[in-house]
Amino acid sequence: MSPQEDPGQALVDTIQEVTQDAGPGPRIGENLAPFNPSMQPVVDTALELLALTDSDVLYELGCGDGRVMIAAAIATPGLRCVGIEYDAEYAERARRAVETAGLEERVSVIHGNVLDVDMSDATSVS
Ligand SMILES: C[S@@+](CC[C@H](N)C(=O)[O-])C[C@H]1O[C@@H](n2cnc3c(N)ncnc32)[C@H](O)[C@@H]1O
Repeated sequence: MSPQEDPGQALVDTIQEVTQDAGPGPRIGENLAPFNPSMQPVVDTALELLALTDSDVLYELGCGDGRVMIAAAIATPGLRCVGIEYDAEYAERARRAVETAGLEERVSVIHGNVLDVDMSDATSVS
């Protein structure tokens, strides 16, 4: 499938192009955004806009400490979530938070780059 036919691949190509052609000065590289956690009103609005259902599979791109997907999983009892986090320390924090919330069966954390993860089963992305 060509990038024209595959919007997901076109998005990945664009992100890679933008981050690689940043020119001189600080390079963003694969770390697309620093950790800047969403405050509760932002989490609440995100959940409202996502309008998740029990049959959804939510991928959180750059899940940080996992607060958005954990709030989503608590609010929506059948929801499955996959958080992807580039930074090892935050990925571990998210894993611990998922365990503390008792959500391991429905929420998993991948320590990796969003550009490398297969998200073909996603029905929703945050
Ligand atoms: C602005 S924070 C948002 C954290 C969380 N989603 C929230 O709303 O609280 C962005 C997160 O994305 C992560 N990140 C940046 N580039 C990434 C990449 N290429 N793959 C996976 N995670 C990435 C950062 O480490 C950081 O934790």
